[in-house]
Amino acid sequence: MTAIYANDIDYGTPARVSGRTVTLTIDGMPVSVPEGTSLMRAAAELGVGIPKLCATDNLEAFGSCRLCLVEIEGRKGYPASCTTLVENGMKVRTQTPKLADLRRGVMELYISDHPLDCLTCSANGDCELQDMAGAVGLREVRYGFDGKNHLKAVKDTSNPYFTFDPSKCIVCSRCVRACEEVQGTYALTIDGRGFDSVVSPGQLQPFMESECVSCGACVQACPTATLMDNSVIEAGTPDRSVITTCAYCGVGCAFEAEVKGSQVVRMTPYKNGHANHGHSCVKGRFAWGYATHRDRITKPMIRKKISDPWQEVSWEEAIGYAASEFKRLQQEYGRGSVGAISSSRCTNEETYLMQKLVRAAFGNNNIDTCARVCHSPTGFGLKATMGESAGTQDFDSVRESDVIMIIGANPTDGHPVFASHMKRRLREGARLIIIDPRRIDLVRSPHVEAQYHLKLRPGTNVAIVNALAHVVVTEGLANEEFARARCEVDSYEQWKEFVSRPEHSPEATEEITGVPAAEVRGAARLFATGGNGAIYYGLGVTEHSQGSTMVMGIANLAMATGNLGREGVGVNPLRGQNNVQGSCDMGSFPHELPGYRHVLDDPTRALFETAYGVALDPEPGLRIPNMFDAALDGSFKGLYLEGEDIAQSDPNTQHVTASLEAMECIVVQDLFLNESAKFAHVFFPGSSFLEKNGTFTNAERRISPVRKVMEPLGGKEDWEITAELSAALGYPMPYRHPSEIMDEIARLTPTFTGVSYEKIDRLGSIQWPCNDKAPEGTPVMHRETFVRGKGRFMLTEYVATEEKVNRKYPLILTTGRILSQYNVGAQTRRTANVDWHEEDRLEIHPHDAEDRGIKEGEWVGIVSRAGETTLRARVTERVQPGVVYTTFHHPESGANVITTENSDWATNCPEYKVTAVEVMPVFHSSEWQSRFKQFTEQQLALLDARARA
Ligand code: SF4
Ligand code: SF4
Ligand code: SF4
Ligand code: FES
Repeated sequence: MTAIYANDIDYGTPARVSGRTVTLTIDGMPVSVPEGTSLMRAAAELGVGIPKLCATDNLEAFGSCRLCLVEIEGRKGYPASCTTLVENGMKVRTQTPKLADLRRGVMELYISDHPLDCLTCSANGDCELQDMAGAVGLREVRYGFDGKNHLKAVKDTSNPYFTFDPSKCIVCSRCVRACEEVQGTYALTIDGRGFDSVVSPGQLQPFMESECVSCGACVQACPTATLMDNSVIEAGTPDRSVITTCAYCGVGCAFEAEVKGSQVVRMTPYKNGHANHGHSCVKGRFAWGYATHRDRITKPMIRKKISDPWQEVSWEEAIGYAASEFKRLQQEYGRGSVGAISSSRCTNEETYLMQKLVRAAFGNNNIDTCARVCHSPTGFGLKATMGESAGTQDFDSVRESDVIMIIGANPTDGHPVFASHMKRRLREGARLIIIDPRRIDLVRSPHVEAQYHLKLRPGTNVAIVNALAHVVVTEGLANEEFARARCEVDSYEQWKEFVSRPEHSPEATEEITGVPAAEVRGAARLFATGGNGAIYYGLGVTEHSQGSTMVMGIANLAMATGNLGREGVGVNPLRGQNNVQGSCDMGSFPHELPGYRHVLDDPTRALFETAYGVALDPEPGLRIPNMFDAALDGSFKGLYLEGEDIAQSDPNTQHVTASLEAMECIVVQDLFLNESAKFAHVFFPGSSFLEKNGTFTNAERRISPVRKVMEPLGGKEDWEITAELSAALGYPMPYRHPSEIMDEIARLTPTFTGVSYEKIDRLGSIQWPCNDKAPEGTPVMHRETFVRGKGRFMLTEYVATEEKVNRKYPLILTTGRILSQYNVGAQTRRTANVDWHEEDRLEIHPHDAEDRGIKEGEWVGIVSRAGETTLRARVTERVQPGVVYTTFHHPESGANVITTENSDWATNCPEYKVTAVEVMPVFHSSEWQSRFKQFTEQQLALLDARARA
């Protein structure tokens, strides 16, 4: 197979880090390695491959297969090289006639209980057992197959993505160890002893009934065809691979897309990926089939009215029509009557071009991005306090953390690969504080237990962070030296006085937050005194009316405790979508040019005016909610929407759809006829991440390559479509390749000046800032000084949300995601991931359910001040009394029909996490759901009419 970055060496055991070096001789060759290294790894460093089956270099050595025996001068016997550590002066021999004999004997025993169907086996050519039989020179098997064997063992095909065929199992335990060490789920064990040993998911259950979360680590680890991807079983082994980056969450895992012809056969997590180190989750590993799903729209389409059937047209006609409509609207209604919304699912290059089109071709600043509805408060809060709108650490930093505080995030579902990484550190002894209204899995999972779970009422984050700060300051636990040396002393003093006030004490805030004061005090003491303290947070922080305030509160806490500027600490937003960080970096907000520079700033605007060759509007443009309001008041008429499904993802659906209906030209660029496209007049077929070149920037500011694996089904990469639309609007963008777009970004953005495709390909990925000061990027920020110079403490007064519970709406609804699905579900709903989550459900506490006569699995109506929908109930103690919870992955659920338009005071990020509702048993769907169903059927019929035309 060919790979762009070929480093497929398996060193057998993990690398060790040590200040001491050990020198020894292997097969007459001297080698020096860190103390603690295995003989197997030392040999591999020399290029000497020792036969092995149970060892692989992402798992600790186990020493079960006895194939890796070596001879050591002066020692008796034949020790296993995977479990024997190097010693100074050792003389080791890896190849002798005796060793060859022993290894052949071991292999013979394995093969005598293994099907001899290599030629027809799905792993043929990609099987370590087969390779080892060749490596040890096994030519015959003396033992017959008549005795007791496992050849008739029954396959487990319960998992939609991989098959478990125990007849091929050599009981090497790599799968079991991968599930424990890499994934941290502990779903597998070896059941029985000796000959009867078998791999057992759960209690000898099928995989789908066990605790397995389908991350694929065991499949990856299996050296035989026992655990095998169904896609490989069906299509055969791949013949080439391309390194690219997962298009789902903000972890940004690197994958080898393995391809046969133009067909993707397997997505293998890339061992040298800096964000994932060879691990994956069910989405990136298996849920890529949507890219070739039959629902893909691959021809451009237009229509005059949304009640007309779609008409397939040429690219030229579709782009020409869209451009003429936008021009008409600007002539009739003014320059500001059109705008665009880009998506965090797009590449950096695509989002950059979207904002450039709006600013240079539309001539206004009406560009916004879906980060508005997730992490815009992160940008605001971190910029205000530390001077940079991004997380401070790389993921690997967590290896040095002693106390991990997770606020409003659910990493095992939202950021699963990082969660596995974090769990490894927790198993090593780091302590855990969770601040979340809901009992997320990390509160208690195998070998991981939170020391504190502050189960606060939704909407009271700021009160909690102030109470934590109160304890830190009033109990003398602040890191005065750090705070005074690194931060503005005036702001520090003011903040100390503010948080020390009695009203911020845990005792005073207990009434507001519902969290016992003693727990808040304990958590604050642990965080301030437990060593390196790292804070990870998610949308449970940002999606509130005080989202920006809370981000500043978190930054204050980190600055006051000295937890910034080195490994193991920091303030780390866990970004939801793959390119939330990048879309913000690229100037997708209406008030900011790329690199977070305000449009009002004359020198910045002058720089871009020179580069773009046009005058730029100095007035900030419309944010997404303002676009909706302006559409309803008749001043906003045309929208270019790339990769974003606002009709499903934005709050108060009925308001959003009314705004869409009020516009005269909506252009949607996407893979599928999503909810927003049902209101569109022009459809440009977009390209999936497998069909284009570009880059994504993950939650740790890591710019990673997205590389074309197959040709775009619609014929064009997304950046090409935007460039052609711009040209049709009269502003040509003559790029030949996205690398040229990145070169332009680098020229215009100080934090990106050192970034290029050549460097990304050479290093694998780059964390910005990357410039003369940091030519290979910056894993940890704010080391010596903060980006803004001195850190600035901000006062964070708690203001209760206007969304109040009362007798009519006595419960608080909060929302979140689930592991198997991704946001609006447009991609994951078109994969077998629906086997795990086929519908959104409403979690409700048993007390609240009983009060209302609600039983598990029954339909319930949920009514808020904004609207009403129905879901089936899941009665569970995961939520506290008074709080209900749902996911929002299925459009017909209408989760956003209920959410309101309340939003963050600074950024308008919607308050998805707090909606006052009432819940009651119902027997029919809501009025909105009936209308939704009817509208969807009508729109699908209009789409079908296109085929007939
Ligand atoms: S797929 Fe992942 S979670 Fe499931 S058994 Fe394998 S390693 Fe464990
Ligand atoms: S399933 Fe594969 S990895 Fe697991 S014990 Fe069997 S051969 Fe080894
Ligand atoms: S953790 Fe995120 S980036 Fe990694 S494979 Fe899963 S969805 Fe993709
Ligand atoms: S590889 Fe060393 S005992 Fe299996």
